[in-house]
Amino acid sequence: MISEKSFKINPKEKLEAKKRLVIISDTHITRSGGAFNLHAFNVGMEKINKIKDASIYLHLGDITHMGTLLEYEYALEQFKKFEPLSKSPKLIFLIGNHDAMNVGYLLFEEMVGNRHYTYEDDDIFIYGIDSTKPDLPGGIIHHSVIESVRKKLEKPDRENKFKVVCFHHQLIPIPNTGKERSAIDDSGDMLKMLLEAKADLVLNGHRHFSNLYTVSSSEKDLFIFNAGTFCCNKTRYRELFTYSIIDIDGNNLNFKVIPVLDPNSQREILREVKYYIPLQIDKKQKPIARFIQISNSLVSERFESNFNNFDKALERINKIDEVDLVIHAGNLTKNSFKEEFQIAKDKLNQLKHQYLVVPGYTDSKPLAWEYWKHYFGEFDPLYENDNIYFQGMNSTTFDSKEGYIDRKRLNKFIEKVLSLSHQKIFGVCFFHNLIATPLSVWRTELIDSGDVLSQFARSQIDLVLNSSPSISFNVKIENTIFSNGGNLEGKYFEEVFIEIEIYKKGLVVLKEHNLRTGLIKIIGNYYLSILI
Ligand SMILES: [Fe+2]
Ligand SMILES: [Fe+2]
Repeated sequence: MISEKSFKINPKEKLEAKKRLVIISDTHITRSGGAFNLHAFNVGMEKINKIKDASIYLHLGDITHMGTLLEYEYALEQFKKFEPLSKSPKLIFLIGNHDAMNVGYLLFEEMVGNRHYTYEDDDIFIYGIDSTKPDLPGGIIHHSVIESVRKKLEKPDRENKFKVVCFHHQLIPIPNTGKERSAIDDSGDMLKMLLEAKADLVLNGHRHFSNLYTVSSSEKDLFIFNAGTFCCNKTRYRELFTYSIIDIDGNNLNFKVIPVLDPNSQREILREVKYYIPLQIDKKQKPIARFIQISNSLVSERFESNFNNFDKALERINKIDEVDLVIHAGNLTKNSFKEEFQIAKDKLNQLKHQYLVVPGYTDSKPLAWEYWKHYFGEFDPLYENDNIYFQGMNSTTFDSKEGYIDRKRLNKFIEKVLSLSHQKIFGVCFFHNLIATPLSVWRTELIDSGDVLSQFARSQIDLVLNSSPSISFNVKIENTIFSNGGNLEGKYFEEVFIEIEIYKKGLVVLKEHNLRTGLIKIIGNYYLSILI
């Protein structure tokens, strides 16, 4: 049986000493143009100079606005104002996309320092890496760097140290920053590595808005903190210029986001690094809900007569008892042809379970909407029973890879969730993935993914199911499980479907069924606060 005791917290003590990290980011220093706010910089410097007991000061990139020689010279002149009271190492700088512009990456190396930095003592290991692509706003880490960071994090003598990894670009979408863009191409690989190598804290800048997420693997928590801008006039929404103080005391963390110009308001968030041990389930215990997740069946006329992956998956799914809902997360057809929708519908009707299907990019070509309406009816289908509320959403836009949910639809759904909270298990499904998947280029095609991710993770929604362009990948962010998976498209990857079981007291097990080998493996094991 599941017992509360098997949910283990803090099995080991990490560092005993206290550490205080002071974070500034995105100063965008320039003599010309309207980016740099000198007043905010001066006030902010005075304030950070007075911080007591600072262990280390970190600048997370975009020191300059254009990466030019005059700007680097001016920036270094400005930073002479850094005269901290506390006995601490000097300010460490990370390179941002603006610093790498106009061959600024060479000036950074010549005038500031290495593009990768290490800080280490008996208690803490901090590693800063260059995530820039010269002259481009987006980022990349590179396979070789990801693997070298893994080695550094997994070094046995660092096992009990608090491990921090810093880079300029955002690892996952951030709310209140407008259209999601300029992310890291290999975010999925980086995120997977950081979770596997048990990093404790990731620090990012770039989006000029502060945010904290608790991202959990099946084993432990990882905090992803985005710093706001210190003094760039390009601020977003209601947050102006900020700096942050992160106090680390054993497994307890205190994040303070402090406005530079408003002395009266500051945001304080307390978190604790938790460790999880997979819970044991009694074989006789039945789940309270079971879902199946599939995507990318890409039904094509040409293969109608063949017994293909989709047929194989449906046949296997029919052998599983007591499935509450089969969710198809998009790319049902290959070309959006009428005949393909007809074939797909006939195949889905062979399921002995209830199913819910939403369109994907390949289902959004001209005339697709007409066919979709004819064969499937709703674009935002809803499935509801006594203990499940599952909302499908059409995230696609006509004949485009880009998608969106939009504020109105999002708010309506969140209101519904709030009105029924504590009564049901809540799920939502749409095509575009919110979390980067390993082994794929992260293009963040859902333009409002920052706000969508944040609203879902901070609400009562238990499951968010999206398609996967490659392998299956799941994480828990705050109290919501995000699963990308069930890819039946076998060009480069194994054809799989996902089974999700939810047990009493909130244990969630995600299993991957491999269609080729017939093997079933557990790919996720989480604990959710489910109150029904
Ligand atoms: Fe910036
Ligand atoms: Fe940036």
